[in-house]
Amino acid sequence: MKKTWWKEAVVYQIYPSSFMDSNNDGVGDIKGVIQKLDYLKELGIDVIWLSPVYKSPKDDNGYDISDYEDIMDEFGTMKDFDELLNEAHKRNIKILMDLVVNHSSDEHKWFIEAKKSKDNKYRDYYMWADPKDGKEPNNWGSFFGGSAWKYDEKSNQYYLHLFTKKQPDLNWESEDMRKDIYSMMKFWLDKGVDGFRMDVCNLYSKAKDMLDIDENGAEGLYMNGPRVHEYFKEMNKEVFSKYNIMTVGETPGVSPKHARDYVGEDRDELNMLFHFELMDLPNQSDKFYKKPYKLTDVKNIFMKWYNGLHNVGWNSLFMNNHDQPRMVSRFGNDKEYRVESAKMLATLIHTFSGTPYIYQGEEIGMTNVEFDNIKDYKDVETLNYYNEKIVDEEELELMKRIKITSRDNARTPMQWDKSENAGFTKATPWINVNPNYKEINVEDSLKGKNSIFYYYKDLINLRHENDVIVYGDVELICGEDENVFAYKRNLKNEEIIVILNFYNNKINFEIPAYLDIKESQIMMSNYEDKIIKNNVITLRPYEAIVYKVKNK
Ligand code: GLC
Ligand code: CA
Repeated sequence: MKKTWWKEAVVYQIYPSSFMDSNNDGVGDIKGVIQKLDYLKELGIDVIWLSPVYKSPKDDNGYDISDYEDIMDEFGTMKDFDELLNEAHKRNIKILMDLVVNHSSDEHKWFIEAKKSKDNKYRDYYMWADPKDGKEPNNWGSFFGGSAWKYDEKSNQYYLHLFTKKQPDLNWESEDMRKDIYSMMKFWLDKGVDGFRMDVCNLYSKAKDMLDIDENGAEGLYMNGPRVHEYFKEMNKEVFSKYNIMTVGETPGVSPKHARDYVGEDRDELNMLFHFELMDLPNQSDKFYKKPYKLTDVKNIFMKWYNGLHNVGWNSLFMNNHDQPRMVSRFGNDKEYRVESAKMLATLIHTFSGTPYIYQGEEIGMTNVEFDNIKDYKDVETLNYYNEKIVDEEELELMKRIKITSRDNARTPMQWDKSENAGFTKATPWINVNPNYKEINVEDSLKGKNSIFYYYKDLINLRHENDVIVYGDVELICGEDENVFAYKRNLKNEEIIVILNFYNNKINFEIPAYLDIKESQIMMSNYEDKIIKNNVITLRPYEAIVYKVKNK
């Protein structure tokens, strides 16, 4: 497998609105990020993925961009951005921009022009269609509820928006549009940014006939559409290949088979992608319902993706981001065993095969917020869902689901210290701070040597110092076990063994005879001592152990 910097890197995602407010207007900003670069350096991360900071009316918190080559006023100026890039590079930290080009904002100048008339130069930059029997052109739905079509009276046509009405889909069939996008990408790369996280990029290509969606779903219609690989190959040739950068595609609805086509090393498309099989567990149509699943389901997903891309392409590893509930609340235990379970989950992400992504606050074990009142939620997806369901549902039941699932769980302000508003702002924050900030904050984390923060720091170090963690093979141990996730990593003469208790009960785990634990040394663990008798380890709640096998 080819060695590259982005396989060895650890990425940290910043959601700028909620990271650090430098001028006390209640919203995080670029200067705030600059203030915290030394903190990130201390953690040891290599790359920042910066969620969108471009000009935007913020209908979807910056994922609706009205000028791709300018900075949102709330976040600062281009001068601030240049300073951020410079200061990050000084510390050997790279910056990935969020590239949101499946759609723009309806306030983008291209869309304002496009709306003017059918023969406007920019009309073709978006997806327009005639009414069908006086109604929407087809049955496609928006990811955020309702139809994906909005009627435009002036031209008696509809435009497509797979997300909100204020996020019209760009028309990738238009060569002029594609060229403008590539030149915009070069604008950022020529400044020195180090790559892109590519928003819903497997939705760019839409089938020309725009058929109705049937029970087979959107596959081939707008998911993994007919020309998507052609676009990536063109983008790669025109843009990526000219720079030493990293690219990661956000791709809902992909299988490892699709992924081989997107990230196969001989494909000249993307470096890696985010799949959502773990996030969508257990597979369900309404994401707001979270039903139980088994540990073997989790293991199967990890192994399916490892096997699917092994020696072909590269995986990314994450358990939360700005669209998902908090990792420790969802996969761990955010009460009694918050610290233990946050460390255990981190051990999985940082010792498996693929590039790890940390979402801001994860490194101090931030939890879901669980606002009781719908008025405290700001996320457009959550609010749309509430408004749609409240018509015929019990509010209490509905709120229960929203508390577990809302994207706002990830979007409450970063908890820096015990002062008011967690040290994020001196003004009223745009979204309320999680009330647990007095117990969970960076200040305390930096004081306690046993904190989650230092555990992350050690894990990141471990990865940087051991090629076996980056490039080694994975072999599952006791794959059928419903409590313990265990695996071996191998690279030439290096071997490590990882054992993770996924639940809050004590487990006696019998080590298979072929593993020589006695000849191994503990590299990392979230408990200080070990309970081992013969070949049985007694694992305490969420216990995680990483062994280095000696004499290999
Ligand atoms: C991606 C983003 C999400 C956004 C959507 C539309 O899924 O991560 O935050 O709402 O695309 O841009
Ligand atoms: Ca601010």
